[in-house]
Amino acid sequence: MNKSLLSVADVNAKQINKIFNKIKEFKLKGSTKYKGKSIGLLFEKHSTRTRLSFEVAISRLGAYPIYINKSDTQISRGESIKETAKIFSLYLDGLVYRTSDQKNMEEFDRFSSIPIINALSDFEHPTQIISDVFTIKELNPKKKLQDLKIVYFGDGNNIANSFCIIAEILKLNLVICCPKGYEPDLNKLKIKSKNISIDNKPSNAVINANVIYTDVWTSMGMEKEEKKRLKDFKAYQVNKTLVKLADSSHNFMHCLPAHINEEVTSEILNSDNSVIYQQAENKVYTAMAILDFLLNQSQT
Ligand code: CP
Ligand code: NVA
Repeated sequence: MNKSLLSVADVNAKQINKIFNKIKEFKLKGSTKYKGKSIGLLFEKHSTRTRLSFEVAISRLGAYPIYINKSDTQISRGESIKETAKIFSLYLDGLVYRTSDQKNMEEFDRFSSIPIINALSDFEHPTQIISDVFTIKELNPKKKLQDLKIVYFGDGNNIANSFCIIAEILKLNLVICCPKGYEPDLNKLKIKSKNISIDNKPSNAVINANVIYTDVWTSMGMEKEEKKRLKDFKAYQVNKTLVKLADSSHNFMHCLPAHINEEVTSEILNSDNSVIYQQAENKVYTAMAILDFLLNQSQT
């Protein structure tokens, strides 16, 4: 069992289902079983939802959240990740880490003895996707998760990568719809399932979709490419014309923050099919469940 959650690939189907059950449990009933523990939150990039949901989750579990802005630490003055990871391990019981480079995350994990939780990197956003697939399950209690057609529109980076990995593990039916040149690398992600496909044509990909998911075209750190991306992704906007081709009771999802009227119109974001707030709320319970999953095993 991995000590950390750096990638969705660090958990198997059984463990994901265990986390789903815990999310459900924490939604019904809290627990302060981690009183006396201290969990750090090291963020190199902006965050509203992930930071807050983890801070709240840590407090609700009875533990103490310590927010650490990277620029306030000695890392920004050249101290190595190796040294920092060793020191953090002396003080903290776990670390929630948002970084611009997955390699930093892996290095931090290698030199620390505490669980590290990926709170978004350039390559993955595992806690977001675990939470979102739980939300899809919660919203469709009468259907088998595997029978739903999930279509992701947008860039083939962190969210799409984590989506592909969870789809491989849980055998989900996932279409990634993005322009040529922006596809996730299915080989690198070790995707073998025939139920995961890439489609460059939005009007084809969206047909009968039960879940439509999108994310920004210009992720944090990619701002220099914004102008080109606005042009390249133009045909991939989730709007009224596109969603007409989906199942009429589809769920619209977005990890947020949204760039309104770029990847999604305001009308769709605020439509009756939109579940963005339920999705965001579940991040707290997912954070509790993931912390519990990792802290529990590090204690035994
Ligand atoms: N969805 C998400 O990770 O949002 P933040 O960047 O606000 O944390
Ligand atoms: N792909 C987006 C996700 C934000 C939650 C980014 O990396 O900025």
